Order: sequence, then C-alpha cells, then structure tokens
Amino acid sequence: MPSTFAVTVEPATSMRGRVRPPGDKSISHRYAMLAAIAEGPTMIHGYSTGADCASTLSCLRALGVPIEQLKRDRTTGLDLEILGVQIRGFQPPAATLDAGNSGSTIRMLSGILAAHPFKTTISGDSSLKRRPMKRIITPLERMGARFISDDGRPPLTVVGNSDLQGIDFTPDVPSAQVKSAVLLAGLHADGITRVVEPMSTRDHTERALEAFGANVLRAGTAVAVRGGQRLIGGVFHVPGDISSAAFWMVAAAALPGSDVTIEHVGLNPSRTGIVDILQRMGAQVTTAVAHAQAGEPIGTISVRHGDLRTATIAPSEVAGVIDELPVLAALATHGGELSVSGAQELRVKESDRISALAEGLRVMGGEIDEQPDGFHVRGRTRLRGGEVDAKNDHRLAMAFAIAALGARGPTVIHDAGAAAVSYPEFFNVLESLRA
Ligand code: S3P
Repeated sequence: MPSTFAVTVEPATSMRGRVRPPGDKSISHRYAMLAAIAEGPTMIHGYSTGADCASTLSCLRALGVPIEQLKRDRTTGLDLEILGVQIRGFQPPAATLDAGNSGSTIRMLSGILAAHPFKTTISGDSSLKRRPMKRIITPLERMGARFISDDGRPPLTVVGNSDLQGIDFTPDVPSAQVKSAVLLAGLHADGITRVVEPMSTRDHTERALEAFGANVLRAGTAVAVRGGQRLIGGVFHVPGDISSAAFWMVAAAALPGSDVTIEHVGLNPSRTGIVDILQRMGAQVTTAVAHAQAGEPIGTISVRHGDLRTATIAPSEVAGVIDELPVLAALATHGGELSVSGAQELRVKESDRISALAEGLRVMGGEIDEQPDGFHVRGRTRLRGGEVDAKNDHRLAMAFAIAALGARGPTVIHDAGAAAVSYPEFFNVLESLRA
C-alpha cells in the first residue's frame, strides 16, 4: 500500500462544488461477505475502491469464493460479481489470510469462519496486529469456536466448529464489528443468537441480512437471528460513504464562502450523527433522502459555512460519529470549541487516535487537551501549519489535511498515502474543491 509518501497541503479560502464519495466501506464489506455465503450470484455496484475493502475480497478469494471485477471507475467505484458458495461453503485456505489494515475484515470474517470446521489464520499490517480481538473471541468461543492468538492480538487463528450454539450476548464495548461477527456466526448456529447492545451502533449488517432474504428480529437495542437461514444473492448498489463525505462537510463548514454538495451518499440514521453535530457547531447543513436501496437510504447533503460555536459530544453520541471524531477535532481548530468524552475506543483504532491527533494538531499550532476518553480543542488561534505524522492512519491523514486548510502556512503530512485505505481519490478531490 502506498502509505509512506508525504503530501503538502496549502491553506484554502473556501471550498465549492459537488462530490460523489467512494462506496461506503462498512456496507461494501458486508455485501461482499454476505454475497460469498449466499446462494447464487450477486452483483455489487459501487463497491468501495479503498484498500480495506480490497482486503476483504482477497480473503474471500483465498477461501474459495469466485469474485470477478467487471468494472473500475474513479467516481462510481467497482462493479463486482460474486458467486456465492453458500453457508459453510468456504474452502480451507492454503496460507495465512492478509486483512491488511482492516479491523472490519478480520472481525466480521472471524464470525463466519467460526462455523467452518478447519483452522484459518488471519493477520495484517503492524497497526492491525495491535488491535484487540478478545471482544470477538469471547462470544465466538461461547458459541463453540476456538481461537489461538498472542493475548488477543492478530495473527488470529480461528478453529471453527460446524456445531455452533446460539447465545445471548451483551458486548462490553459498543462495536458494530462485534455485533456483526456474532450475528454472522449466529446465522450458522443452532437456535437463536441475540445481541443486546449497551449503545446502538451502525445497523448495516441487520439491513443487509434482510436484503439477502434473512429474517432479523429487532427490538430496541436487541437484534436476533435464527440459525440455518439461507441467504439469496441479488443486485446491490453501495451508497457513498458518509464518513468519507465528512471531510468535505467539515471543510465547507469551516471556511467562509464555502458551499459543497455531497451526492449519492448513505443517510442511514445510525451514521448521520455528523449532520447534527455540524449544525450544533454552527454550519448550515441540509439533507434530502432520494431513495432507498436494500434498506439503506441514499440522498444528498449540502453544507455551507456558518460562524463556528462551542459544542460538546456526549458519550451517548460517540458510537454514531466514532470515525468522524478526528475530522470534527480538525473543525474546531478553525473556530469554536469542541469537547468529546466517552470516546476511549478511539485509542484502539488504526492508531491511538486521541494521542496521535493531539500530537499532530499541536505541531500545527493547535490548542488541544487530551483525556483518557476524549479531547478538548479550542479554535481561538489560527493554526500555523507544520510537519505532521498521520501514523499510517487514513482518517488522521485526511483530518490533518482539513485542519491544514485553515492554517497560515503549508502543512506537510507524512504517511498521507494511508488515505487510500478508505479514500484513494481524497487528495485529488481536495484540490478540485478549492474555490
Ligand atoms: C465499523 C465499525 C466501527 C468503525 C469502523 C467500521 C463497521 O468499528 O470504527 O470504521 O463497519 O462495523 P467498531 O465496531 O470497532 O466500533
């Protein structure tokens, strides 16, 4: 992955234009995995061009799933045809699977592999090898699988079992990846598997399962599936990724005279927390749902600058904006103030996002206090720019770029190529939106 190169970002006066973000990363992973275990062929249009979603495809291919890429387009993404091998149809892989930088790949795929009666080892890059897996190991072992790892970090060996039992499970961290891993295992288990979340997380797995023909029971923050259900392949369109769109939404909110419209973007309510927070911080934001595909609302978001205000993100809101917190911190460097608490999960993302964010923003001249579970950014003084390290973390590379737009001088971002994990076109689009 071309993650080592540096990019220099010059200040901007305003951002204007229309953007179609890449296919949603979360939804792309799920459609590929469900298509793989479905009956019959599935066409996926607009699959994410990011490296993370390519990792899911390469792991599935190594497990014997036929996948053909029919088209690749910079704007509309990938078109794929996946020939489903049906429930428990994976073949034992010849070698260790490489999940690259992708936590979603290793965690969700482990849920499916838990039901396959062979051993699969999954590893990844140096960031992935630091990420905690006990959160999926604990419930999947209760269901009957076994795992081998070094204290819950990858490489992770899944010792599958074709005789899984359904469980009732309450995760102790709010995580859609954990919920999804357990539900995917539950699809292969005896009886009912139920996950009761302490706090709701994105529900793309639930919606996708239904779109592939499964029955999903939902009540409050509980979701359950009965084992033994068949999934049926079909035609799927991936909406644009609101977490990628968030960079342009924030840039427009931050810079006077800006006006940016995001097209064909996913507007699933479990992902639109960013809209509420931008409005609270003073931006003018409008959203319009145009239609829904496979249960996922899709539409447009328009953002114009407003005077930035002080805002707080409460612990109960964190799961809904977990991936947007770095760029929201960048917004507060342009003006206003932002404090976030209850976000300790940020410390176990692709990097320790609290400390790496604080380090980078301080180098640029920002005022940021770091707490164990959050941060406080004050936008009283204009950033000066500087040389920052994205720590091989895609969202940090892009968040620093958005902060840099408001600085007095240029900012050099090391490891900027990490953006390709979710948004390979990011730096080209950035230049095209400068007014
Ligand atoms: C994701 C869930 C979140 C998020 C990640 C994608 C998903 O992770 O940060 O980028 O697709 O389910 P957690 O489940 O670890 O919170």
